[in-house]
Amino acid sequence: MAIGQGTVVMRLTARLSLAFFTISLSLVASPATANEATEGKAIFMKCCASCHGLTGEGNGRLASSLTTPPANLRLLSQRFGNPLPPDVIARYIDSS
Ligand code: HEC
Repeated sequence: MAIGQGTVVMRLTARLSLAFFTISLSLVASPATANEATEGKAIFMKCCASCHGLTGEGNGRLASSLTTPPANLRLLSQRFGNPLPPDVIARYIDSS
């Protein structure tokens, strides 16, 4: 039985939120478990790092070919707090 696309997107979004936890909390203890952090990091590396860079600073290898430069995701916590609210971050991902 095939899984609906919406379900896949929602699951991916939840895992990506964990990627942000991992990245943004690299200086502070993370509430995510080690497995979740590893999984989130893998998704970030596969789906996001090409533009946002390996450390999320916006310096990925595709960055120079984009008209709008990728955001420095490490600054998100200045606006949204630390840990980042998963629902706010998920909205960014869903709307792009
Ligand atoms: C094709 C290049 C590209 C990829 C791949 C990409 N992004 Fe982005 N992202 C951008 C660009 C460019 C912006 C800035 C858009 C703007 O300012 O209007 C951005 C903005 C964002 C923002 C908003 C940041 C802010 O400060 O407002 C978030 C959050 C984000 N991306 C998360 C992600 C995540 C998570 C992934 C992986 C699922 C991802 N992006 C993959 C190019 C990319």
